[in-house]
Amino acid sequence: MAQRPYIVGNWKMHGTRAMLAEARAIDRAAERLIKAEVALAPPYTLIHATHKEATLIAVGAQDCHPADGGAHTGDISAAMLKDSGASFVIVGHSERRAGHGENDAAVKAKANAAIAAGLAVIVCVGEREAERDAGKAEDVVAKQLKGSLPAGEVAEKVTVAYEPVWAIGTGRTPSVEDIAAMHRAIRARLTAIYPAGGAEIRILYGGSVKADNAAEILRADEVGGALVGGASLTAESFLGIIVAAAEL
Ligand code: PGA
Repeated sequence: MAQRPYIVGNWKMHGTRAMLAEARAIDRAAERLIKAEVALAPPYTLIHATHKEATLIAVGAQDCHPADGGAHTGDISAAMLKDSGASFVIVGHSERRAGHGENDAAVKAKANAAIAAGLAVIVCVGEREAERDAGKAEDVVAKQLKGSLPAGEVAEKVTVAYEPVWAIGTGRTPSVEDIAAMHRAIRARLTAIYPAGGAEIRILYGGSVKADNAAEILRADEVGGALVGGASLTAESFLGIIVAAAEL
């Protein structure tokens, strides 16, 4: 791995201010484990407070609206996230695609808006189980990449997260060989889409990453880090993954 492994916690809709103690503990430990690069995406309500607590880790959001502002009740713009202390935003998570009807064009609009506001983006892609069973996983992911990635030579602002939908929160993961094969396929798409910088884009794996499977997944070809849901909710479980990344 040329760059430091990038370990990102996605807290989803979990966390009140009481959980800031976990963020603080993660941040302090990350200071010792500098061979890994660590970030947290708490819910909107904790972004600013987490940013204030953090001395080292990056803080980001889990979604944004594509517009700069306006009559969009309940939505948050990328510029607002930046103002709150976010430096990145996750877009296109499968829970947004499935639960909020976001298609590739919507994800791309969000990614473009985030980059225009000065944020980095983590663009999520991944097949459903039936698509994998039908042998279509790589085609599905290639189409999502083509449709969702932000426009222009913006590779240095982009991270991709490959998250098979059937592996999220289930305790199931693809084999290391399947993860590596998909990551190689993603790399080929990225170098085609971004001729100048596509080779450097980090490709994270996400879906049931835990302390006990992190090392073998992170060692797989073209895996540049992990996007972690459930196991990022306590410092204890998240640190198990960060330690594995730092010791690669
Ligand atoms: P999980 O979630 O680690 O709980 O499987 C990963 C994600 O949805 O980003």
